[in-house]
Amino acid sequence: MKIAVFVSGRGSNLHAILSSSEEKKNIEVSAVFGDKIDCPAFDIARRYSIPTFSLGNKEGCVNYTELSGVLSKFKIGFIVLAGFLKLIPKEVVLNFDKRIINIHPALLPSFGGKGMYGINVHKAVYESSAKISGVTVHFVDASYDTGKIIAQRCVDISDVRSPEEIAERVLKIEHQILPYVVGKFAENKVRIVNDRVVILD
Ligand code: GAR
Repeated sequence: MKIAVFVSGRGSNLHAILSSSEEKKNIEVSAVFGDKIDCPAFDIARRYSIPTFSLGNKEGCVNYTELSGVLSKFKIGFIVLAGFLKLIPKEVVLNFDKRIINIHPALLPSFGGKGMYGINVHKAVYESSAKISGVTVHFVDASYDTGKIIAQRCVDISDVRSPEEIAERVLKIEHQILPYVVGKFAENKVRIVNDRVVILD
């Protein structure tokens, strides 16, 4: 399965996918896209000799209207949003129906939506005084964080003293669940049954 990973910053989830795909021979990360000219995640991609593309209107960038063409040139069959903060163009969402997934650092459908990314999510969770948070991997549709949920894991945060502490605990779980879900897609073990997403053993 040829994958494109979309990033905006640090790239620790990209790294988690790449480390796990070294063992799983049926996963190939063929391109990495970012919404900035450069970001730390691109350095990780380059270490694995994966081509990187900046999206936008600036010189040298791939325009969002050209994205579909680049994805087909690389024969991408599956897209992973790993900390990507922009909306994916509608055309790409339609072409990749049920083939784009996103990782969100909280338990959707709570604490999601526009502006809910990174530490903003953990601040909202902390301020709510919630005792559990977690990770959600879901399908991507045309809006933020509303696609069907594929997998979730809970994290006990009853004793945390800051949003940063929540972020740290949640990120550890992100690095396990995202490669796991990508692996399940590569094995064709993710199904929709009675309108619910099911992962086969
Ligand atoms: C991750 O925590 C991811 O869940 C979050 O951004 C971070 C990216 O970290 N995504 C969102 O908040 C999307 N709404 P990374 O660049 O180290 O993978």
